[in-house]
Amino acid sequence: MSDEERTLVLLKPDAVRRHLIGEIIGRYEAKGLTVRAMELRTIDASMAREHYAEHVGRDYYTPLEEFITSGPLVAVVLEGRKAISVVRAMNGKTDCAEALPGTIRGDFGTQKNHNLVHASDCPESAEREIGLWFPNLG
Ligand code: CDP
Ligand code: MG
Repeated sequence: MSDEERTLVLLKPDAVRRHLIGEIIGRYEAKGLTVRAMELRTIDASMAREHYAEHVGRDYYTPLEEFITSGPLVAVVLEGRKAISVVRAMNGKTDCAEALPGTIRGDFGTQKNHNLVHASDCPESAEREIGLWFPNLG
């Protein structure tokens, strides 16, 4: 079985506002991951609810929806060996204040909600999220 995987990454609106698109994509590329699809896009509440379906109803969901719809984000499909776990490790812990230096969240943020990046957390999530964001990707 091949270890090649695809994963869905979002550079969230804070990353775009802070002009970190190149820095963050550059890290993934330098690691050896391949960009298979990429789009700058502003999403509405309905798309936010679909993407974050498992979080709807949590106490942090309403501010999360406001944040993720607050401006353009960059959706990316990355491909490479063990891409799902590699990208999660590069992103760091959800709370930027706890994320290790050397990770994207650890190097560029201090917040828990405005935490710069999203990445699929398992193969099933990756398949669902890639289908949601890039339905025409072969
Ligand atoms: O993004 P990640 O998979 O690391 O975290 P999650 O637990 O799946 O939560 C999804 C997103 O909700 C996070 O990235 C945060 O932006 C937000 N969140 C939050 O604002 N407060 C929390 N207590 C948990 C998550
Ligand atoms: Mg998650």
